[in-house]
Amino acid sequence: MNKLLVFGSLNYDNIYTVSHITGPGETQSSQELNIRLGGKGYNQAVAAKCAGVEVWLAGQVGEDGQPFLDECQRRGIHTEFLRKVPGCKTGHAVIQVDQSAQNSILLYGGANQMLEKAYIDRVLGSFGKGDYLLLQNEVNDLDYIIEQAYANGMKIILNPSPFDEKISCCNLEKVSWLFVNEIEGKQIAGNTGGTLIDVLHDKITGCNIILTLGGRGADCIVNGVKLRQEAFRVIPVDTTGAGDCFTGYFMGRMINCCSGENALRFAAAAAALCITRPGAAEAIPDYEEVLHFLKIESEE
Ligand code: RIB
Repeated sequence: MNKLLVFGSLNYDNIYTVSHITGPGETQSSQELNIRLGGKGYNQAVAAKCAGVEVWLAGQVGEDGQPFLDECQRRGIHTEFLRKVPGCKTGHAVIQVDQSAQNSILLYGGANQMLEKAYIDRVLGSFGKGDYLLLQNEVNDLDYIIEQAYANGMKIILNPSPFDEKISCCNLEKVSWLFVNEIEGKQIAGNTGGTLIDVLHDKITGCNIILTLGGRGADCIVNGVKLRQEAFRVIPVDTTGAGDCFTGYFMGRMINCCSGENALRFAAAAAALCITRPGAAEAIPDYEEVLHFLKIESEE
């Protein structure tokens, strides 16, 4: 069976409940603070594991990062490639969530931004042809990871979030699966005319494209076939991590040999459930919950 390696970030999420997202120059008191485990790498690993695949999580925490190892082990995520960096702090995020469930996120990279090439080589050396690698853009040396993984014959899945100039250093031709929202998609597509998903598909030869559209669902092109999924209607509480939940669930289903349609439907259902609860990783539903939700939806 092919393995899924998620090589990415682990953050302590400091989640502040606020009436509105604080503006420039404004001071606002928050109503509540919750500190939870997050980071796009960690969240996506949790979602893929919930979707039913064997997951290895690689990445770095600081000396204060033991809760991540404990929680991964409790969830059955392989931790042998997680590294605690001495004298260093775990990354964190300052997240404001407002009354309409929208968020704003400020990141401090900490140990996530201190990957060394020897460590990257050691991790990737344990994986090979046909294994999957899921990446985001919250660690350093992303371009190097892509090059080395591709040389090993791994299938690379990229969610280039948060989007910044480092993505332009990455050879996207080596990516087999690209997960983007509309803003990220437009940044990659550039100023070309045409439908965004078609432009992305034409631009990155042979790459499967998944374009998430928030409340409008998702469009994708998988193995050359165009698919569309509407978003399920739910009452949102917190949208943090919904994209991570979608990505992890989608790839979990695909790696389990499900069809693109099935992966899309499960990912959309999981993301819908995720936004009905506070937090990121903790809000990701388990597989039975998603099955139950889909059963109710199909009966309505
Ligand atoms: O996508 C949500 C995640 O973004 C949060 O968990 C936060 O840590 C940041 O990485």
